[in-house]
Parts: sequence; C-alpha cells; structure tokens
Amino acid sequence: MNISKEKILEKGFVDLELDPQLDLFAEIERLKKKKHAIILAHYYQEPDIQDVADYIGDSLGLAQKAEQTDAEMIVFAGVHFMAETAKILNPGKKVLLPDLRAGCSLADSAPVDIFKTYKDKNPDHLVVSYINCSADIKALSDIICTSGNAEAIIASIPKEQPIIFAPDRNLGAYLNKITGRNMLLWNGACMVHEIFSLEKITKLKIRHPKAKLISHPECEDAILRISDFVGSTTQLLKYTLKDSTQEYIVATETGILHQMQQNNPNKTFIPAPPTNNCACNDCPHMKLNTLEKLYLCMEYEAPEITMEENLRLAAKKPMDRMLAISRAAGLIG
Ligand code: 13P
Ligand code: SF4
Repeated sequence: MNISKEKILEKGFVDLELDPQLDLFAEIERLKKKKHAIILAHYYQEPDIQDVADYIGDSLGLAQKAEQTDAEMIVFAGVHFMAETAKILNPGKKVLLPDLRAGCSLADSAPVDIFKTYKDKNPDHLVVSYINCSADIKALSDIICTSGNAEAIIASIPKEQPIIFAPDRNLGAYLNKITGRNMLLWNGACMVHEIFSLEKITKLKIRHPKAKLISHPECEDAILRISDFVGSTTQLLKYTLKDSTQEYIVATETGILHQMQQNNPNKTFIPAPPTNNCACNDCPHMKLNTLEKLYLCMEYEAPEITMEENLRLAAKKPMDRMLAISRAAGLIG
C-alpha cells in the first residue's frame, strides 16, 4: 500500500482502501508484539475491535489501565477525551487514536471560555466534571468522576460544600436525586442517551413483561425512573451476569450488547429504541473507529495524541483525586 506517514499526520485520520486479502486480525496481533502495544477499547466499539482488544472497559477501568500499563504504545479504541485521558495519566507512552475526528457530543457541550466564565461567577463552588470533557475543562476542575464512581466522588465532598457539576445535566440530575444534593448543573447532554423513546420503551416493556430495563445514567430522567437498574457500562454488564432474569432492554449505546451476549449466551438483549427510525443509539463518534483504521494507526503510529505539559499537569490533578477516592472506596485496585 502506498501512503506516506506525512499524509496521515497531515489529515489527522485515515480512511483508505486496504487490500481485502489482508488478515487484519493477524496483522494487528503482529503489530502488537512488534511495537509492544496495548489496545484499550471501550464497550461502544464495534465487535471486531472489541475482539482484538487487550482490555475492554468503561471510562474508569480504561483510565486505570492506561495509567498502569507498561506497554510502550497505547492504542485507544475509543473517543478523543479517552485517549487524551490516557496521555494525561501516562505521558511517557505514545498514545494513538485510530480516527482523530472521534469526538463526543457531551465533551463538545462545554466550550472552555464559556465554562470558565460560569465557574468565575460561582467562586465558592467546587467543580466536579464528568470524565467526558476536554483536557481544558479537566484543568478547570477540582475532581473528575465517571459514571462508575460518581456517587462515591460526590459522597466524599462535605454536604455543605456547593458544587458545579459538568457537563452532563442528566447524570448530574440523577446524582442530585440519589445523593440529596443540589448541585448546579451544566446544560450538556449525550446525543445517544438523549434519543431513547419513553413511549417505545413502554410499549416494548408491555410486549416483554419479564424483561428488565437497564440504563446508563446519561439517559433522561423519564427513562431512569422506569429502569430496574442504572449503572455505568461495566456495572450494566456485571448486573446481567449476576441477575437471574433472561431478558433485558438495554438503554445505552448498542456496542455493549456484544459483551452482554458473549457473556450470557442464553439471555436475550434488546436495544432500547430511539425516538425515530434511525440508528441513533449507535454513537457516530465511537463508530468512526474501524478495524482498518486500527491497523493503519498501529502500522504508521499516527494519529498521535500530544499535549502541552502545563495543560497536562493541570488536568492530571483532578484525575489523581478521582483515582485516589476510587481506590479508597474500593472501586478500583
Ligand atoms: P462509561 O464508560 O463510564 O459507562 O460511560 C459511557 C460513555 O458515555 C462513554 O462515552
Ligand atoms: Fe460521547 Fe455519548 Fe458518544 Fe459517549 S456515547 S462518546 S457520551 S456522544
């Protein structure tokens, strides 16, 4: 194949025709060994990518794995803020993202200048930011959280301390409800988790009366209220393993169904339906990564995540606080 590394670096992403005879699974395994690389994948990645990954997890598990790995190269099969988080925690490693355009609607909903003004208007508030945000927002935050540890993070803060929670208003509202806080909520949301239809889910529940509805806390309150279980992607997966129900309606991005089905071959998983007839419960950012791009990024070692050191250090402080609280709460090892 005739492509220069410069072209990949210049374009920031790769979208090229590959020889269809190429065994991408074998090639990726070869490159992993040759380059001492680890592939970290989020549950929302396409099944082929999950199958070649060394570790599949939620945002919390992925951050911890990125921090601890001794591989020389971290290939992040996820979205930009996740790869950026890996670089923040483990700056000595080369961090690659198969497609640099893989962003996040939630992270985009908090532009740094407007957020800074908001923060300055509430100087007595502590800023807790969901990990789905840019390094700039992390640098303006006091503590980061994920959906897997948010409750423990909020519980670690004295009750009388006012808090700004950003950028996800749905997760923030859910946390206000379960912790009894009154955090100020930034008005951001995830385009995938906001699209689930209450009406269609209700009809589905009537047609499948024994099915349990399990939901990610980025969903709107109306969905969470009728859910049997709410949790991060890892927590949802674990729930399906220990629970005895045979059928589940799953209100989160469809990629997680691959692991649920593999781990529970005799159970039935139904993706929660979106409001219109689109595939809107597939995250368009997550799905930009493909096996072809994964192979190319390992071969050419691009696109790479880089970061200015002062920004990295400022963004690392609230990440370190998050990891310390999570360890103390026994949520990670
Ligand atoms: P978790 O990985 O924490 O479950 O969050 C899901 C998500 O929105 C990732 O973008
Ligand atoms: Fe962002 Fe939502 Fe996609 Fe997760 S699913 S990466 S929160 S847009």
